[in-house]
Amino acid sequence: MCGIIGYIGERNAVEVVLEGLKRLEYRGYDSAGIAYICNSSINTVKCKGKIRNLEALVNSQINSGQVAIGHTRWATHGKPSDENAHPHISGSIAVVHNGIIENYVELKKELVSEGYKFISETDTEVIAHLIDKYKKKYSFIEAIKQTCRRLKGSYALVVLDEQEPDKLVGVRMESPIVVGVNEGEKFIASDVPAFLNYCRNVIFLDDGEIVILTKDSYEIIDLNGKKHKKEPILITWTASMAEKSGYKHFMLKEIYEQPRAVGDTIKGRVLVEEADIVYEEFGLTSDELKSIKKIYLVACGTSYHACLVGKYMIEDLAGVSVETEIASEFRYRKIPFEKNSLFLAISQSGETADTLAALKYAKENKVKTLSICNVLGSRITRESDYVFYTHSGPEIGVASTKAFTSQIVALYIFALGLAISKEKINKNKVRLLITHLMELPKKMEEALRSDRPVYQIAKEIYKKPNFLYLARGINYPIALEGALKLKEISYIHAEGYAAGEMKHGPIALVEDGFPVVFIVSEDSLFEKAIANIEEIKSRDGLVITLTNSRKAILKNLSDYFIYIKGLNKYLNTVLFTLPLQLLAYYIADLRGCDVDQPRNLAKSVTVE
Ligand code: AGP
Repeated sequence: MCGIIGYIGERNAVEVVLEGLKRLEYRGYDSAGIAYICNSSINTVKCKGKIRNLEALVNSQINSGQVAIGHTRWATHGKPSDENAHPHISGSIAVVHNGIIENYVELKKELVSEGYKFISETDTEVIAHLIDKYKKKYSFIEAIKQTCRRLKGSYALVVLDEQEPDKLVGVRMESPIVVGVNEGEKFIASDVPAFLNYCRNVIFLDDGEIVILTKDSYEIIDLNGKKHKKEPILITWTASMAEKSGYKHFMLKEIYEQPRAVGDTIKGRVLVEEADIVYEEFGLTSDELKSIKKIYLVACGTSYHACLVGKYMIEDLAGVSVETEIASEFRYRKIPFEKNSLFLAISQSGETADTLAALKYAKENKVKTLSICNVLGSRITRESDYVFYTHSGPEIGVASTKAFTSQIVALYIFALGLAISKEKINKNKVRLLITHLMELPKKMEEALRSDRPVYQIAKEIYKKPNFLYLARGINYPIALEGALKLKEISYIHAEGYAAGEMKHGPIALVEDGFPVVFIVSEDSLFEKAIANIEEIKSRDGLVITLTNSRKAILKNLSDYFIYIKGLNKYLNTVLFTLPLQLLAYYIADLRGCDVDQPRNLAKSVTVE
């Protein structure tokens, strides 16, 4: 995926677009470019590498102008290079694009046969030439519509025409586009943080919509020219929420934001006195919840780990059968869907292609769909019958942190609602579990005080080439998540495993100094965990224990011991996650890795 932004108004358009590109770097950063209209002609500056390379080039040129577009790229067709960087130009047209044009090869052949010269290997360049081609017969807007009718695939476009310097046009088809509406100026971008410093009145485009912006107006039409009336909504995120506010990385800031993010996700969703939840927040009534016989929990990556935690919660509290699956597998399976099922998608971005496809597959099979999502107006939310929003605020770091813990809390509330609707739980138990939930943000603040001990541990083990993360029961998904956090930002090979599986293979890895992170709950499986740790110690493994137990036997066996004061077995999964995020963060930072933009990764995988 890529970051796109456009501006039209009284400010220096180039400055606004450069500023916006910096806030979009997490969406892609292997090359960047800008195009602006000055003295009635299009000027383009683009280069391989990060925004700072572009900034150096742009600052070296006198520039002004009140309409500009910009792009920060995540390569899908054509390697990162100056030529392949966007914007792409054809005649009087400049285009930036996020998505994949699936039929670009045949379109390219057609355009080459008509005399167009291609200078890039990208799919995007065909869009610029098509608009130029159709402009020879139609108006600027009609040329864009004609072009869109030829395109197959996903695209978010922003288009400039030097012959129409008072216009900026955007098109959405399966890639996000948001419009910012201020008096006398308009913004358009892939994501809200791009212009949050200037504007908080936003409109999310839907698929097939075209927005025509002038500095004083906006008009939304579809490919048939039909007008769509949409009013801006106020985004309450302040600019600072999308900035690092003093932390070294977005990821560290977002780790520390988790008590607030979780607190905001809880707000208005539970009723302590009534010992109930607010069903309207899910959109499903208590009776509808009562009728559910089977739940499919589907997602990718970290969000899938939240699904696994949700499975334990829902089956334990509500006695409803849950099937969990990664979306890229679910979407291609031939599933005998059962009646009275609910498909529950979890996604931070709401734009993950595989999760969206899995959701559509469930809908095609007449399964009711609910999504737990962090981005208002994102594609997955608009495809779902019901939506429950986590209120984590923008998650900029590629590695998901606050969205994950908020997802677990959302699932906890959902599981409670299900259990209440099915009369599986009495009011006193509900009141206790809700009371724990209300205490969670404070307990998370306490758990984050493990920061310093975790940093000390990281300093001693950050050079290790491999890690094993082990846990049992509801903490097993947290072992998987801890391993994913470490591998995706530090590039160390790390595996999460169910501790009971040790003898079925992983124990072969253990040798002198081999680090094993072990999450141990003081519960019915405690003795088994002690046995596992003894097996590791007898092979000179290094044991980093994360636990809510102060038992001496555990502490004496551990090389490193992180104690977290627990709440209940469900919410302890949130508390155990925090030190694991910090451990991954400090190890990665000590290794000099690009924590916020790890190599090969994008924040949201909007293509297959
Ligand atoms: C998590 O740290 C990763 N960045 C990745 O696994 C992510 O969770 C996955 O791509 C799903 O994204 P989503 O939640 O936006 O759908």
